[in-house]
Amino acid sequence: MENSIKYQKLLDFIRKIYTDQEKIPLHNPLFLGNENKYLQEVINSTYVSSVGPLIKKFEKKLSEFTGIKYCNVTVNGTSALHIALKVAGVDENTEVITQALTFVATVNSIKYCRASPIFIDVNTKTLGMCHISLENFLNDYCEIRNDGFCWNKKSNKKIKVVLPMHTFGHPVKLDKIYKLCQKYNIILIEDAAEALGSLYKEKHVGNFGVISTLSFNGNKIITTGGGGALLTNNKQLSIKMNHMINTSKISHPWEFFHNEVGFNYRMPNLNAALGIAQLEQIEKFLVIKRKIFKKYEKFSVLQNLNLFSEPEDAYSNYWLNCLILENKKERNKLLELSHGQKIFMRPAWFPMHLLPMFKHNQQVDLINTVSLYNRIVCIPSSVILHEKD
Ligand SMILES: Cc1ncc(COP(=O)(O)O)c(C=O)c1O
Repeated sequence: MENSIKYQKLLDFIRKIYTDQEKIPLHNPLFLGNENKYLQEVINSTYVSSVGPLIKKFEKKLSEFTGIKYCNVTVNGTSALHIALKVAGVDENTEVITQALTFVATVNSIKYCRASPIFIDVNTKTLGMCHISLENFLNDYCEIRNDGFCWNKKSNKKIKVVLPMHTFGHPVKLDKIYKLCQKYNIILIEDAAEALGSLYKEKHVGNFGVISTLSFNGNKIITTGGGGALLTNNKQLSIKMNHMINTSKISHPWEFFHNEVGFNYRMPNLNAALGIAQLEQIEKFLVIKRKIFKKYEKFSVLQNLNLFSEPEDAYSNYWLNCLILENKKERNKLLELSHGQKIFMRPAWFPMHLLPMFKHNQQVDLINTVSLYNRIVCIPSSVILHEKD
């Protein structure tokens, strides 16, 4: 069958899933629970800003849900990444290994610390950081020196952090990456912005890294409008991060004493109210997300389309479904057709190592990154109200 006919069938199928929408977004939020009630309560209380009881409550609920002991909520996922890297000691004398296929915030946060990113490849089975590419890089370029730290022989800089990202909610091979970090004495930080609700070997993502971060941007599985979180099992780190996101103010009834340059990154109480209401519904959202994937899967098998499914050992939140087409021409053909019919699909992010501000940073062979960038099309994946089988 000609591909254009197949793509039109796909668009017709998507219209059957999202029946009541003329313009079908890639992902929109759904407010079906206590959102209005909790928001109204916060407004009535006047505690809409950075002080209020719902911040701690949301943090506690996120800890319970993820099984990670300590949580600090932030204004967005980018600020969470910035603090995670800063507290790990990332600065201008250090480097951070990350994947070339990610949202720009992952790499921007490295630059905010004035450190250098090193780009390694992604894995076609997970779409996230490839443990083989990581191992090859560490073997080829790195050594443990007398100070016990991992040094990049090419740049003569210390490698402080490995920062993988769970693309579209699909967990990377965390056990393999964790082991490599142990071997080379590098801190593992997980960018789990897209992966709330995803498990790797039955543990929630974020449990393998020393710190992990989340985003609650409007397009994520749950939203607080804008928001993020820092998660860790290390109490001291959590205390330090909490201090940093609260302008590094020493607690005192009236004195404004700050012991270092801090950040105003604390999530407001108003956003936390929305977060609590959304988190109450996440189990339901996860079930519906999986049902949407199953619908797409059935269709893709019939139409011989290559739909990406969760990697081995992983339970994915299926935040965004994606197709992997034959080449860039086919990708663009589908994107043009769908946008013309107001069904908003999108490609993967432009590879980081090809962006002007990062192109001079160290990189390995990024064959999967480029190939996937050319072929991925993300398809509408919002949670729907009236789910029918
Ligand atoms: C992989 C990844 N990292 C970081 C972020 C940054 O989160 P935020 O938009 O909340 O700053 C996002 C999403 O927005 C993301 O998808």
